[in-house]
Amino acid sequence: MTRVFSGIQPTGELHLGNHLGALRNWVRMQDTSEAVFCIVDLHALTIPKPPGEVGAATLRLGQLLLAVGLDPERCILFVQSHVREHTECAWLMECTVSFGELRRMTQFKDKSERADFISAGLFTYPALQAADILLYDTDEVPVGEDQRQHIEITRDIAERFNSRYGDTFVVPRAVIPAAGARVMDLQNPTAKMSKSSESPQGTIGVLDDPAVIEKKIKRAVTDTETEVRYDPEAKPGVSNLVSILAAATDRDPHEVAADYDRYGPLKADTAAAVIEMLRPVQERFRRLEADPAETSRLLAVGADKAREIAARTMDRARRNIGLLAD
Ligand code: TYM
Repeated sequence: MTRVFSGIQPTGELHLGNHLGALRNWVRMQDTSEAVFCIVDLHALTIPKPPGEVGAATLRLGQLLLAVGLDPERCILFVQSHVREHTECAWLMECTVSFGELRRMTQFKDKSERADFISAGLFTYPALQAADILLYDTDEVPVGEDQRQHIEITRDIAERFNSRYGDTFVVPRAVIPAAGARVMDLQNPTAKMSKSSESPQGTIGVLDDPAVIEKKIKRAVTDTETEVRYDPEAKPGVSNLVSILAAATDRDPHEVAADYDRYGPLKADTAAAVIEMLRPVQERFRRLEADPAETSRLLAVGADKAREIAARTMDRARRNIGLLAD
């Protein structure tokens, strides 16, 4: 059976980009693959946080992921820092990737330009991500478009390690959805929707009230034309709405665009589809929020299962490198 692995950082609120770009695929893949999903709390430390913040955000994200439809009976859901092999394997990755390769990562360039304090962890971030993926003999990594470069470097690291030390890691491939892979900011449709956006009006939170979602979509930036067309280059705002509606209703963006000749109805239908898609998630979240101990218990069960797989892979890596046995 295909092994699937993916991760998400416990920073900020879960937004529509995370949902359409990644999480919906994760939920689907539980039924067709051996799926492993991880809340990557250690990655969140690459940008300094006050004590306690990451732990609280991790629990909340755990509740949200369960609400979105991850089912611990059908997947392994766990917290990165609960499985020590991730940091151990990250060191092996750091010794396999080059300084030059890390320096070329666009995410590092973007984030380090904005950061007051550029941690070494921000620079070696892709090595920890490669460890996450390679520890689980992963075939497929379901992610949004912005993670493509991270999966490419993971493949390069796996191939280099295997050629140095013999077959150790499975070389994974990215799985990126046809629609929803790059949800853009509603106020600034040339930038991706992100937790750190400067315009809260441009980002739809998975837990936003229906009235708020409707307002944000109604006010989304379009253009001075009136024609509805799926053309992300020439019409980024309108195309973003079309692709959100297409992703939410599992249709092709060009087909969706052909149904509309004005912006008003496109916006109304997009808002309705997003509200409908998120309604059950929000209901489940309210129930899970009332019982945090249950989410913690489920995450601990997930960590036990993850540890078993990760420990086996680390043993293999140590053996193949030829470290002295302890
Ligand atoms: P993160 O936490 O930023 O995002 C989680 C997932 O959401 C997707 N995503 C989007 N998709 C479409 N449109 C958007 N605007 C949008 N914004 C975010 C991301 O592509 C991602 O799939 N480095 C990763 C976390 C990570 C990871 C891993 C992922 C750590 N280890 C191993 C996969 C495998 C990150 O920061 O994702």
